[in-house]
Amino acid sequence: SGGVVVAIDGPAGSGKSSVSRATARRLGFGYQDTGAAYRALAWSALDRGIDTTDAAAVIASLPGFDYRISTDPDHTVVQVGDTDVTEAIREPRVSAVVSQVARIPEVRAYLVELFRSVIRESLRPGIVTEGRDITTVVAPDADVRILLTASEEARMARRSLEVTGQSAEVTAQQLSSRDVQDSRVVDFMNAADGVTTVDSTHLDFDQTVTAVVDLVTSVW
Ligand code: C5P
Repeated sequence: SGGVVVAIDGPAGSGKSSVSRATARRLGFGYQDTGAAYRALAWSALDRGIDTTDAAAVIASLPGFDYRISTDPDHTVVQVGDTDVTEAIREPRVSAVVSQVARIPEVRAYLVELFRSVIRESLRPGIVTEGRDITTVVAPDADVRILLTASEEARMARRSLEVTGQSAEVTAQQLSSRDVQDSRVVDFMNAADGVTTVDSTHLDFDQTVTAVVDLVTSVW
């Protein structure tokens, strides 16, 4: 990559996707949502009738997994083959099984390489990549490394506004069970050495974006 590499991690509901996207927009950077790849793989497994708890079957599906995502923060289209799955990968049925595919080491190794190649091929002025293990595994040498956190209460409240069609209690319960499963695989609740924590509990959306943008411009 010729530009500035920004790595942002955080738990579900921390607002990291919308904050990362808005940061990229403000700075004219590219944007990479790595959770979308895990979600697209889970979607693809469901679509092909693959049991997501069958690691061997999920691994066998990797070579045929034709995943494409644009890094334009204004048009993040996610495709598997010719199918636009941008909306479908957010469905609760996908969220419910995504951690099962994300905990398979071969899946992680495969996708980490994909994420690194997107970063390598990114253009100036830079790229914001967001997920759970970006500051630690995907791009530990990124120019800016941020852990975006918020209190559990704030995260649940934000996520229940995003997810419609089910009660806030159900959404909160699904979110925390996904965090518990995910944190067995990657520690995204504690900042690694050299990673700056941005706690958004008492910040509104614009203040959070400004805090992140300021961290980027301070090294740029
Ligand atoms: O960020 P998002 O909630 O869309 O991520 C969906 C899922 O993808 C997470 O629950 C986690 O299982 C997986 N994930 C991951 N590592 C990343 C990004 C996402 O394991 N870097």
